[in-house]
Amino acid sequence: METRKNHTPRNGIPQCGKLWLLAACIALAACGNRQEAPAAGEPQDVTVVRIGHVAPTTGANAHLGKDNEYGALLAAADLNAEGITIGGQKVRIELLLEDDASDPKQGTAVAQKLVDAKVSGVVGHLNSGTSIPASRIYHEAGIPQITPAATNPRLTRQGFRTTFRVVADDTRLGSALGQYAVTTLQSKAIAVIDDRTAYGQGVAEEFIKAVQQAGGNIVAREFTTDKAVDFAPILTSIKGKQPDLIFLGGLDAVAGPMLKQMKALAIDAKFMGGDGICSSALYRLSGNTIADDKVFCAEAGGVEGVGVATLEAFKARFRARFGTDVQLYAPYVYDAVRVMVAAMQQAGSADPAHYLPVLAATRDYPGITGPISFDEKGDLRNGALTFKTIRAGKLATLAVVR
Ligand code: ALA
Repeated sequence: METRKNHTPRNGIPQCGKLWLLAACIALAACGNRQEAPAAGEPQDVTVVRIGHVAPTTGANAHLGKDNEYGALLAAADLNAEGITIGGQKVRIELLLEDDASDPKQGTAVAQKLVDAKVSGVVGHLNSGTSIPASRIYHEAGIPQITPAATNPRLTRQGFRTTFRVVADDTRLGSALGQYAVTTLQSKAIAVIDDRTAYGQGVAEEFIKAVQQAGGNIVAREFTTDKAVDFAPILTSIKGKQPDLIFLGGLDAVAGPMLKQMKALAIDAKFMGGDGICSSALYRLSGNTIADDKVFCAEAGGVEGVGVATLEAFKARFRARFGTDVQLYAPYVYDAVRVMVAAMQQAGSADPAHYLPVLAATRDYPGITGPISFDEKGDLRNGALTFKTIRAGKLATLAVVR
């Protein structure tokens, strides 16, 4: 294992960014290597492996970003409690937590910051709009990145061997939802709105293709932004077209207020979206206005059989630890951290050059979100989708499909 010299500044305080995990800053004598000297009071034979985590922990999507962060913290805490070794060395996993605020520019800035800090790997980002530009930075630095949430297919189609995803992509999500809307929900006249982000636009386009293939009609096509709060003009225009279903390519922070405004405008259509609206927060964000079996969405993963009990046990443990329910992606983040560390253990090294090929060759890693195997692009093989609706204010599972 490589060791490093510490570069503690004259005042003796580590030069860590303020958003970095405080404990990490205190523990580290400096920033910038794959494996660190042990912290004060820690056994001298423990080395520190640092993993970056990025999600929007400020802004409209902060509730989803914090959910991701909690998933990463729980994975690191579990690994450290288990007392893992890499290449025969006792190791402590340390997370460097960064906020990209769902902003592509901030996403690349924090990606560069993590590269400069020489992290061993990165789990993130949450949005496709930040994950795609950041992936080039990790690729150029040779640092593995696993997204637990970004579903735009382009992410893994850039030829970057450092990019991985532990959820299904929007080609599958959008097309399964389009088919579901027409064949299962029997929707004939469908309106589509997207927020013009990489995610919203991509999933909406896949949805439209599938609707048309299944014989449904797109009667309205509207656009908004991921920062919009007033949807009255587009909803009024859509109302005139009398759709029986409205699809949104966007996240729950947009879907919630949109649903509230649909109700105010007496639009009685069903509402559908991808993984981005499929959160525990959607009902609250809609002002608690969602009637049973009116909203449909699909999570870009899912478990069946005995896997359900494992996932539920994780959710209960999460609730007990953080005092809040899993919102959406925390289990996928948990798996992403653990599958990355499992590859380091198998390679006997936290050096990306050594463990990256092992990570790429991951087959049937037993995750809490199901078995994880990567294909040649870094995508999850044979991922599931979980169709959900909202009943009595809570997400209810309708079906898990592969
Ligand atoms: N799946 C959403 C995206 O890709 C979160 O941005």
